[in-house]
Amino acid sequence: PIEDRISLLMKEMTLEEKVGQMNQYNGSWDVTGPKPESGSNEEKYNNIKKGLVGSMLSVRGVKEVRAVQKITVEETRLGIPLLFGFDVIHGYKTLSPIPLAEAASWDLEAIKNSAHIAAVEASASGLNWTFAPNVDISNDARWGRVMEGAGEDPYLGSKIATARVKGFQGENLSTNTSIIACAKHFAAYGFVEAGREYNSVDMSNSKLYNTVLPPFKAAVDAGIRTFMNSFNTLNGVPATGNSFLQRDILKGAWKFNGFVVSDWASIAEMITHGYAADAADAAQKAAIAGSDMDMESNVYVTELAQLVKKGLVKESVIDDAVRRILRVKFELGLFDNPYKYCDEAREKSSIGNKANNDAVLDMAKKSIVLLKNTLPKGRNEKLLPLKKEGLKIALIGALANDKTSPLGSWRIAADDNTAVSVLEGMQHYKNNTLVYEKGTDVALNKQVFVDEVKINTTDFSGFEAAKNAAKQAEVVVIVLGEIGFQSGEGRSRTELGLPGNQQQLLEEVYKVNPNIILVLNNGRPLALPWAAENIPAIVEAWQLGTQSGNAIAQVLYGDYNPSGKLTMSFPRNVGQCPIYYNLYNTGRPANKDQNAFWSHYIDVEKTPLYPFGYGLSYTSFEYKNLKLAKTSFRKGEKIELSVDVTNTGNVDGKEVVQLYVNDAVASVVRPVKELKGFELITLKKGETKTVQFTLTDKELGFYNNNGHFLTETGLFNVMVGWNSNEGLTSKFEIE
Ligand code: IFM
Repeated sequence: PIEDRISLLMKEMTLEEKVGQMNQYNGSWDVTGPKPESGSNEEKYNNIKKGLVGSMLSVRGVKEVRAVQKITVEETRLGIPLLFGFDVIHGYKTLSPIPLAEAASWDLEAIKNSAHIAAVEASASGLNWTFAPNVDISNDARWGRVMEGAGEDPYLGSKIATARVKGFQGENLSTNTSIIACAKHFAAYGFVEAGREYNSVDMSNSKLYNTVLPPFKAAVDAGIRTFMNSFNTLNGVPATGNSFLQRDILKGAWKFNGFVVSDWASIAEMITHGYAADAADAAQKAAIAGSDMDMESNVYVTELAQLVKKGLVKESVIDDAVRRILRVKFELGLFDNPYKYCDEAREKSSIGNKANNDAVLDMAKKSIVLLKNTLPKGRNEKLLPLKKEGLKIALIGALANDKTSPLGSWRIAADDNTAVSVLEGMQHYKNNTLVYEKGTDVALNKQVFVDEVKINTTDFSGFEAAKNAAKQAEVVVIVLGEIGFQSGEGRSRTELGLPGNQQQLLEEVYKVNPNIILVLNNGRPLALPWAAENIPAIVEAWQLGTQSGNAIAQVLYGDYNPSGKLTMSFPRNVGQCPIYYNLYNTGRPANKDQNAFWSHYIDVEKTPLYPFGYGLSYTSFEYKNLKLAKTSFRKGEKIELSVDVTNTGNVDGKEVVQLYVNDAVASVVRPVKELKGFELITLKKGETKTVQFTLTDKELGFYNNNGHFLTETGLFNVMVGWNSNEGLTSKFEIE
């Protein structure tokens, strides 16, 4: 049994070797080259040799991983193999859509498969650990990392967390295509104040338990092996030094027996927070609070052994952390074969192959959301889907010819310029005439580590050519939005419009030809009220990864009928943020027929531009016959509902049928509605399906401010809808 093997091994280990297991380094030198002769890399190298390192980060490629693993296995006293971690966020080399886009598919099987493909490629490159999934719920589009989560809803977020964990980790960890996953960032990072990156978080326990924690709990239930804590404070205590989160909840109430890694330097950052006095204090506080592994703070390896000797940290704290880390290494089978992931032949055949590209293309198509498709002025036919013959199309926008931005900001193993651009995707449809004009650049610098992406506000030189192309075309496809590095870590924004002079370009082109299909490429919800009002067709195409352009073209041409639905509300302007569907009622919700004294803004409508759950199709669906078995139920009894959905249009299509519940009166104010079920169905034209839902205590209950789960009697409202704002309603009572 693994636990016995761990005990035997730990008996052999010195205190320093135990602490070494809790140390993770970034491999920032050529690990297959000559050994580093000076500086921190030399220290790291020497510590690997001394058995004072438990894991490496960002060492990847079979040759590299093998080289470092060999040092640990062959040259250290106990030969304990290393874990090799990397940010495999939405694919390794063959990239899937960014996670926020994938979430819009509501297709759990496809999302699981996408994580599996990522694991297949990453593991073929020698890696055994991904720092994903990000399960941070967030409802503030100003925060750049919304691109990396599943959106604003904890119910959907939990289902997606489960799918991603299972995709990465597989059925079990014994195969060499399964890698361990990491739920991050524990916890509440998605609620940094005002969406400003790394900012602090203050929130009630009720919000923490009901909104933030459910996807993390789902990840534990799905068998996840690691957690990463986060940079933010939670109610004044840094998450990294937070024993309420890590000890009481995660390892206590949830009985998680994997380990917690810190975020990059987040242990040392507790000094800057003003929570720890120095490196020793930070190490002591983090270890006691339950952070098991130190990512790049370099304080565990330098301080912890001394702290134990001085009696400031109990050895049992170290033993617990080491046992957790070794457990995961045993489960991965690394003690039996430390080179399990080091297979050069597999590395050659598995990375970037056709099957993986087909899979990410499938995921990309499913992630696209059709936001608008109305009749253009003076025409009696919608612009989408595009006709396949005899059409003159002007394709405009720098992003239409961008082969890098679709890779998003977590593209570490994928090379720049490897995505299929929209231009390339559309060129496959040869029976139309396609003229491309850039119009304007989104940004003048596109580097990774720039403080601010320098956006283009002064260069209008491409406008005339774009307008000329538009004038001569029957239809304009214009691709606008954000470059890959305008969202992601460190990329909070205070404006949510189109960066640079893209909005002006859009309006100028519209003046000469209003038959515009606006394709959006972005990593967060954008606020585009003018486009929503004026542009007849809008397609949300996010950053869709390697196969981006092919997916977009297939949707524009109707070879794939769009089926995505938003998982974050799109605001009308940035001042509405945070904006989300599952808000609490106020005492004055009312509506605009009243005088000033109700909860609203005086300068913009209260509603989002596009609500959570919203997305159109090339066909139409009709909902009928919402039926409840009864109107009154006993507590604990299952509540069965059904609804008939018919495809009333002319083509086959997919629909996400969504069930929302509202607990009308409770001991804690409950949200106006909450998603509590959904089903993705495929309907042939003319076909009707009856969709069944079951509600139990699990869906109807909630956590109070003390973290207790309650189910209460009384009235519940239900809505089965096609988005969070529209649907058929009913009610029932729990006695
Ligand atoms: O995994 C990431 C984390 O999400 C943000 N900080 C750096 C880590 C390692 O790259």
